[in-house]
Amino acid sequence: MKKIAVFASGAGSNAAKIIEKFKEHPVVEVALIICNKPGAGVLQIAEKNNIRTILIDKEKFFRGNGYVDELRQIGIDFIVLAGFLWKIPDVLIKAFPKKIINIHPALLPKYGGKGMYGQFVHETVLANKEKESGITIHYVDEHYDNGDIIIQAKCPVAADDTPDSLAQRIHKLEHEYYPRVIEELLVK
Ligand code: GRF
Repeated sequence: MKKIAVFASGAGSNAAKIIEKFKEHPVVEVALIICNKPGAGVLQIAEKNNIRTILIDKEKFFRGNGYVDELRQIGIDFIVLAGFLWKIPDVLIKAFPKKIINIHPALLPKYGGKGMYGQFVHETVLANKEKESGITIHYVDEHYDNGDIIIQAKCPVAADDTPDSLAQRIHKLEHEYYPRVIEELLVK
């Protein structure tokens, strides 16, 4: 089995779709959820699905080993970021080269970088009167939203969109693409 760890700290709707996709999958198993926020929705989702969780400590993550030892001990092969806002420390990137991916709710390289997440992304897209937005799935490197792009998918932006309505459209795209792309990357 290829074991994946999902790093998520929000509602966890992407994590839920990924868990659903790989339930009883012959090759891929969601073996761990890593979260930095006590009480985050994703923790309940993990519990419901009997998936092990680690609530990480900031000091240890950034100044310790980046949880590399724990990930190795569990036998994690691949890391999926789904709404995880902390920067991934170099020690972790070096330990999992080209084995960490992220999903971003816009068409990178536009609307990426530090502080560009969630509603801020959609508000800026709307303020700039973009006609389209979308999602980017990319490898994670030392810089925010910077690694090689694996895939992008687009959706229209309507003149009367609000950050919420656009967020909903983007979330739908994420749910459709992310589990599938993970499968394509791991089942070759
Ligand atoms: C997603 O929109 C993703 O693009 C971003 O964080 C959000 C997570 O949403 N990186 P959810 O917690 O999966 O619902």
